[in-house]
Amino acid sequence: MKSRAASSQINNKLIEDIVSEGKSLLMNAEGLELLSTVKDSSVRVKMALLDPPYNRRTKFHHYDDSMCRDKWVDALDHHCRLIRDCLTEDGSLWLHIDDAEMIRARIVLDRIFGEKNFIASIVWQKSVSRDNRTSISTTHEYILVYAKDKNLWKKTRNKLPPTDDQLGRYKNKDNDPRGPWTSGDLTAKAGPGRREAQFYDLELPSGRVVRPSVGTAWRFTKERLEEMIADNRIYFGGGNSMPRLKRFLTEVDPGLVPNTWWSGEEVGTADSAKKYLKALFPNLTPFETPKPEELVSRAIKIATKENDYVLDIYGGSGTTAAVATKLNRKWLTTEREERTFNEFTLPRIEIACASANHNQSLSNNFVIIR
Ligand SMILES: C[S@@+](CC[C@H](N)C(=O)[O-])C[C@H]1O[C@@H](n2cnc3c(N)ncnc32)[C@H](O)[C@@H]1O
Repeated sequence: MKSRAASSQINNKLIEDIVSEGKSLLMNAEGLELLSTVKDSSVRVKMALLDPPYNRRTKFHHYDDSMCRDKWVDALDHHCRLIRDCLTEDGSLWLHIDDAEMIRARIVLDRIFGEKNFIASIVWQKSVSRDNRTSISTTHEYILVYAKDKNLWKKTRNKLPPTDDQLGRYKNKDNDPRGPWTSGDLTAKAGPGRREAQFYDLELPSGRVVRPSVGTAWRFTKERLEEMIADNRIYFGGGNSMPRLKRFLTEVDPGLVPNTWWSGEEVGTADSAKKYLKALFPNLTPFETPKPEELVSRAIKIATKENDYVLDIYGGSGTTAAVATKLNRKWLTTEREERTFNEFTLPRIEIACASANHNQSLSNNFVIIR
């Protein structure tokens, strides 16, 4: 395997020019070279999405995944320290990892970002089948997420789009001109902070009088509730049911807060990623460890908006850059192995650019340095 020696073809001015022109950058180089340059420039990225060799003591066809543990930890530490400096203040780092080095990766990242900026350890179901040769079949990996500043990040991160199932819960049972709505409970726990004015009798349209059950209170005072009834924001079913609050789709954010369980069915598996890549490059020896596009896409959608920059120094088959292109994000990517770069990283990104952008030449999208 032939790795690139430091090319020194990148410098602060060049990276600043590339970014100011809104272009992406692909380098056949050591990640360190890109990181040191970005750090010393005015360029900052919104997200670093890293998929390093996991140190599984294996020699893959396309890269070596075997390092002395101390060296692996030192390299991760060095890269992530630089990456922290390359992030925008509301930026985040996402690290794919498995159990081989997960514990050490957590310690390294806690040290660099501070425990308080740990966001989540996402569990990705990388396989939906069982390996019966093992004692316990491992079917998951992790993505560790750290923010440069957790509070800032929470303000800018995106929710996941609502599922069809969730949107289907919004209906317009009474032809309200404000459109589809779903209903929510009008009572809440009667804990501290509830006012006397939240405990009262309410007459339903049917004439039946109701009160919140023991231990609960109305969410609103009688005066406020009457205003809401007059504005047709309270639903009584046929007229004799406990009232419920109408929540209009146009007035709420129906997005889903991401959670830490990412199933193979939702975001693809290691197998589905390999099959996809094999179909793209049927004549090549398969790249052994690609990530599924759906998995990478979900991470990028949560952490960035259109035109934000995503950094990936372990390019491999080019999944991050290809997905970022399709999502209208910009990216900075390195891959150090020359053969991987020529066979996978570059052609995969060219295919993604061509499909995302029919009218522009590739040089309008990204700069290549080798
Ligand atoms: C696990 S693979 C990445 C796979 C990629 N996420 C994908 O979906 O195809 C890791 C890649 O990082 C490359 N690599 C490892 N260390 C590197 C470094 N210091 N600089 C640049 N590339 C590196 C390896 O050659 C390998 O191709």
